[in-house]
Amino acid sequence: MKALILAAGKGTRLRPLTYTMPKPMVPVMNRPVLFFVIDQAIEGGIKEIGIVVSPDNKETIRDAVMKEYGGGDLSFEFIVQKEPKGLAHAVRTAQPWLGDDDFVMLLGDNLTEIELSEMIKDFYNEKADALILVKEVDDPTRFGVVVLDEEGNVKDLVEKPKVPPSNLAIVGVYLFSPSIHDSILRIKPSWRGEYEITDAIAELVKMGKKVKVVKLDGWWIDTGKKDTVLEANFAVLDAYAEQKIEGEVSEDTRIIGRVIVEEGAVVRSSELRGPAIIGAGTIVENSSIGPFTCIGDDSEIKNSSISYSVFLDKVKVIGVHGVMDSLVGKNATISMQGAPKVKLFIGDDASVEL
Ligand code: G1P
Repeated sequence: MKALILAAGKGTRLRPLTYTMPKPMVPVMNRPVLFFVIDQAIEGGIKEIGIVVSPDNKETIRDAVMKEYGGGDLSFEFIVQKEPKGLAHAVRTAQPWLGDDDFVMLLGDNLTEIELSEMIKDFYNEKADALILVKEVDDPTRFGVVVLDEEGNVKDLVEKPKVPPSNLAIVGVYLFSPSIHDSILRIKPSWRGEYEITDAIAELVKMGKKVKVVKLDGWWIDTGKKDTVLEANFAVLDAYAEQKIEGEVSEDTRIIGRVIVEEGAVVRSSELRGPAIIGAGTIVENSSIGPFTCIGDDSEIKNSSISYSVFLDKVKVIGVHGVMDSLVGKNATISMQGAPKVKLFIGDDASVEL
């Protein structure tokens, strides 16, 4: 079994961050979202991982992935999808690498609380040609939707239906036998001009193949926009953060809950409320950080308070209280001197709420 991770998306809803970084590299808990997806594949026992990238983000993603995972017994292939023509198009592009192997397809910007190893067992026990993860949602119109028969087999699938035939949304974790390649060759682009994997799976059903689902009870977050990155940061910190103090913390600093202070960080006269992370080399003084807050590396936070936020590396926050629900890119400076004034120098598509 191989893993195919799709990471070619442009991330327009995450501008301005995605002007300078690929969407799957946006961090939660100070790690790119993509790394959590790769970890999930590894947890499933998979050693051969293909990552579908765009011509623009190939190098950044390849360098980061090889730095984090290279040198071990995993093998990575970076497959360039020249144009963003849909999930089924990505599979078609990757077909020469996938060959005749079964594979799991994961979306590089979606986090799900599943154990892939369990899903892989189900796939083989069921002898299915496709096993897809679904979740009951309130608004299925934004997703691919499945309809089941009495035995729990998938009998129909529709992409973004105006009138949803069920509330079972397709989450974005798919296991396939190689028969998916034949059905992909039979489909046409959808109304949005994309080759939809949903249509290819519907075609599998028409071909008489066995398509099953696994229902997800836990969380699922598509990190495509600011609020969902913060939501994912919340979920991941909640699930995985464990106390680890490697930096220097002064005696008059109060630590409440699970807090990570990375190597080289210095925290003085402050309050850290977990779950929270202070990145390597960051200085925090006279400030309150957390809960559910991640500060990247080499930053400086003085006389400020920040909660429920994600800050990337090399950020300066000086004299600003009440910062919350914020997502802040690298090298940003936020400061307040004296009475509140608003002086801004921010990029295209930025959003500021005061
Ligand atoms: C894609 C799939 C859709 C699925 C969704 C999950 O949609 O086409 O079936 O429900 O991912 O995130 P897209 O994000 O391309 O709109």
